[in-house]
Amino acid sequence: MEVKNTNQSEESMDSTYDRKAEVKGFDESKGGVKGLVESGVTKIPRMFHSGKLDSTETSATDSKLSVPIIDLKEIHCNPPLHAQAIAKIRSACHEWGFFQVINHGIPITVLDEMIDGIRRFHEQEPEVRKEFYTRDFKKKVLYYSNMTLYSDQPVNWRDTFGFAVAPDPPKPEEIPSVCRDIAIEYSKQLRELGFRIFELLSEALGLDPCYLKELKCGEGLFIAGHYYPACPEPELTMGATKHTDSNFMTLLLQDQLGGLQVLHQNQWVNVPPLHGALVVNLGDLLQLITNDMFVSVNHRVLSKNIGPRISLAGFFVNSPDPFQDSSKVYGPIKELLSEENPPIYKDTSIKDYLAYYIAKGLDGSSALEPFKL
Ligand code: OGA
Ligand code: NI
Repeated sequence: MEVKNTNQSEESMDSTYDRKAEVKGFDESKGGVKGLVESGVTKIPRMFHSGKLDSTETSATDSKLSVPIIDLKEIHCNPPLHAQAIAKIRSACHEWGFFQVINHGIPITVLDEMIDGIRRFHEQEPEVRKEFYTRDFKKKVLYYSNMTLYSDQPVNWRDTFGFAVAPDPPKPEEIPSVCRDIAIEYSKQLRELGFRIFELLSEALGLDPCYLKELKCGEGLFIAGHYYPACPEPELTMGATKHTDSNFMTLLLQDQLGGLQVLHQNQWVNVPPLHGALVVNLGDLLQLITNDMFVSVNHRVLSKNIGPRISLAGFFVNSPDPFQDSSKVYGPIKELLSEENPPIYKDTSIKDYLAYYIAKGLDGSSALEPFKL
């Protein structure tokens, strides 16, 4: 495909630029961003240009600001530690919408091998990985670059290999052999950890530990294995543009490269890689059902001229295909409401919410706004 050498001022005057053709050519190459890098680009195609960053947001200079780290060691058998962890989780979910967990029970070897497995998938010969490239998001195993590639938003400098885990996993032989065994093992352990964290979140809300599980917040799980290649012009694009997650909760595993940032008090704060930790990131639907007691916050991934960076986002949702289950409606949890805390959101079907989220693209605006009362 054609790679244009433009800068911002040329762009605004250039009426010949055909974005649709550029996007289509990229999609049809089936090689993703990695394919561009393999072809030796030194200037990134214009569809990746993310334009000016919002100047009201600054990088954090206050070193006291850091994403909370919560130690889960022995909390199941030590009531004072348990109570402490719940209190920390409550404030992290209210203030940050993000925290890291350590001593969560998934062995570090499993985490490291999973990252290696995703690396092996993306670093296969283009011809091999192209077999999996698709925009059919109903598939249970898929390779794609940018879920919202055809929206008007800047394209992110990353590719993704994703697989469904629950409730309806692919057959083992459908998972590529380069990462099959570890993907199955990681999936099993991540799902169990997800349920344990939903219990802790339920308790942090003052509800019965089974509450969020019974509400089916973690029934579905999809794992996205992201690959952020080194970028020749990192100042022009983002690995992931500012967005909130659409689901209930995401458990994120990142490698040691860094680049993930969360917007806290209008400042971008790094989520530092911590070997063996997992990042817990609350999504819009959890904000909706908790009536803003817990928040879903904007985050982004910077692109870098070194790489690749690899991360795995495990998205907990109520169903793998919410578009099929339009009857599922969520509103603020009744037990959390009172005269002083009236409902902020309407009862909302997941189908309506997701249709809005996807149409809007990853532009950093809140997808919850239209669903307020
Ligand atoms: C996501 C996401 C962050 C990362 O997939 O929604 O925010 O570090 N990923 O890859
Ligand atoms: Ni995200």
